[in-house]
Amino acid sequence: MSTNGLSAAAITANLKTRFVGQRVLYYPSVASTMEVARLEVQKGTPEGTVIIAGEQTAGRGRLQRSWLTPKGNVALSVVLYPTLAQLPSMIMLASLAVVHSIRVVTGLDPAIKWPNDILINGRKVCGILIESDVRQEKVQSVIIGIGLNVSLHPADYPDIQDIATSLSQESGRDVPAVDTVRTLLVEMERLYSELTAGRSLYEEWRDNLVTLGQSVRVSSGKNVYEGIAESVAPDGSLILRDNKGNHIPIVAGDIMLRTPGSV
Ligand code: BTN
Repeated sequence: MSTNGLSAAAITANLKTRFVGQRVLYYPSVASTMEVARLEVQKGTPEGTVIIAGEQTAGRGRLQRSWLTPKGNVALSVVLYPTLAQLPSMIMLASLAVVHSIRVVTGLDPAIKWPNDILINGRKVCGILIESDVRQEKVQSVIIGIGLNVSLHPADYPDIQDIATSLSQESGRDVPAVDTVRTLLVEMERLYSELTAGRSLYEEWRDNLVTLGQSVRVSSGKNVYEGIAESVAPDGSLILRDNKGNHIPIVAGDIMLRTPGSV
């Protein structure tokens, strides 16, 4: 059991899912839950396995960045085995599951910043990292890594204090990490079932994006693009309109909203 009430037993007790979160491995401290999840996949762990850490000492973010996980925040990885057709929807599933669970647990109103940040009042409360192993047109595994700031005090971290926030900071009260995690896992399974039943998550994901209509600068590999984030395609790519009116599809990238004060 950790200081914030997280433990495998507390998460799984009477959890209303069939498979997501039915196997939970809790580590008080670990380098990165992504690495543990990768080793579990190699051992044939069942779909829905969750690796969760009280703190990470070498948490990883997108684009080779590091990810800070002090005690009291949530760092978890979920193992899924989707089809190739479902793969582009994984980011929609993860983002919407986070948004829904934050709404349910706190009543706050988060938004999604393309491709996979969750913001509250313009500040980042959650980052999502998706690592997939695809061989010969078959998905071997997908690991969804979610770093959610639950009780972070941004003022304690001068490097990020202007761009990061947490659930307790925004709600002005303590938010139990275990409730947030349980709600998140239930939502992940529900959305995954929707996908499996052939329903799309695209429209709801698109409608929760704060990015669309904004003037943005996007770095994608070695390229930097500027323009208006006009739309997103059903495969999750961003469609940017540059100042010549060209439409540029961007599959993966990092975006800066150019509205003053935004991250
Ligand atoms: C980002 O915004 O760059 C993505 C951050 C993802 C962080 C999570 S925390 C749980 C999992 N383990 C990691 O090392 N990274 C992801």
